[in-house]
Amino acid sequence: MLFKNHGIIERNSMILLIGILLVVSIGGIVQIAPLFRIEQTIEKVEGVRPYTPLELAGRGVYIREGCYTCHSQMIRPLRDEIERYGHYSLAAESMYDHPFQWGSKRTGPDLARVGAKYSDAWHVQHLINPRSVVPESIMPPYAFLEGREIGIKDVVDKHIVAQTRVGVPYTQADIDNAKTDLMAQADPNADSEGLQARYGGKVTVRDFDGDPSKVTEMDALVAYLQVLGTMVDFKTYEPKKAENLR
Ligand code: HEC
Repeated sequence: MLFKNHGIIERNSMILLIGILLVVSIGGIVQIAPLFRIEQTIEKVEGVRPYTPLELAGRGVYIREGCYTCHSQMIRPLRDEIERYGHYSLAAESMYDHPFQWGSKRTGPDLARVGAKYSDAWHVQHLINPRSVVPESIMPPYAFLEGREIGIKDVVDKHIVAQTRVGVPYTQADIDNAKTDLMAQADPNADSEGLQARYGGKVTVRDFDGDPSKVTEMDALVAYLQVLGTMVDFKTYEPKKAENLR
């Protein structure tokens, strides 16, 4: 019966086309519909917070320089990756990443948990001249970042305000204080109370690039690299059981 009627579909291209569209759209809806309820799809995890203004500026540099063309930020739940990079990435860890930096190619290693793996000085030296610390490296040098000061207006308008538009919960106070927070994070002598009240006590306050006279793109990029994968404390983290996920 089915096989007999199948002939009608195969001989009639319009009916075949409608049939194809029907089948493909069912598949599409099954994939897309759960994402309409994305708030429920991502399990909230303690410690995950929006980036500070300085980290966000660094993230901007990361995207502008195309670091994602060689580096992924997504540790898959496979044994070899976990042994090499650490705990597999959680969905919540990139919930404030717009656009996400999962990447699709690993010319260099995954960076999802590179935070706190090296010292700031290592990162600065590596970015200035990768071959000075990893002789066989094929990574390009980014020494010019040291000479480029952060344009604070850009950080607020192009980054923070833009992020609020796509749902990152920065408050008006976060936006108003962005400049102070950005300067405070790169200066260990500054008053960082406000910064830590807004972004949590774990925020690292340091002179990241070793030049205290100005806040550069190098400061921002290193601040960003040093926070990657460090927000969740995996000593206390326990995945929710499937039946409790709602
Ligand atoms: C052409 C590809 C390429 C690009 C573009 C690139 N990298 Fe790399 N990166 C590598 C390779 C290869 C390595 C491994 C060798 C090394 O450590 O230098 C690496 C290593 C690293 C490491 C050390 C990771 C670890 O766990 O040891 C960091 C951090 C890093 N890159 C950051 C960056 C940043 C930030 C940018 C953008 C400003 C960038 N990379 C752009 C190829 C690249």
